Amino acid sequence: MEKPIHKDRRHVLKLGGVMLCAFACGKPEAVLPVEDKPFEIMLTEGQATSLQQIGGFVFVGQFFIMRLSATDFRVLSRWCTHAAGALRFNAGANRLECPVHGSVFNTEGAVLQGPATMPLKRYRYELRQDRLIIFLD
Ligand code: FES
Repeated sequence: MEKPIHKDRRHVLKLGGVMLCAFACGKPEAVLPVEDKPFEIMLTEGQATSLQQIGGFVFVGQFFIMRLSATDFRVLSRWCTHAAGALRFNAGANRLECPVHGSVFNTEGAVLQGPATMPLKRYRYELRQDRLIIFLD
């Protein structure tokens, strides 16, 4: 019988191999975590409480989420499309910036400055009272 630690180690090695291949092959999208179930965020808990105000934003999991109005949000991938750098939000300039090589994206997800050439992934969502349901399709 296999111990759970072996399974975890194998998973880490497999993920590391995928990441190395992704960077070597120039396909950073392959390193992003893949989940097939909708992602649910309670707007009344933790850092997500910042989304209770219009203009509030948060990085959670693989997402950058911003509240645009009482009912509208923007849900984008938090990973730069150039080489999967973790984006930062520059609230003063209202844009997402990558500290790795300097790509810049607007809050629609469009590239404002390279080297990235592809827009950020945008996710569908539904607001159900205090829960934001994000669909990963
Ligand atoms: S990883 Fe973001 S610009 Fe290269």
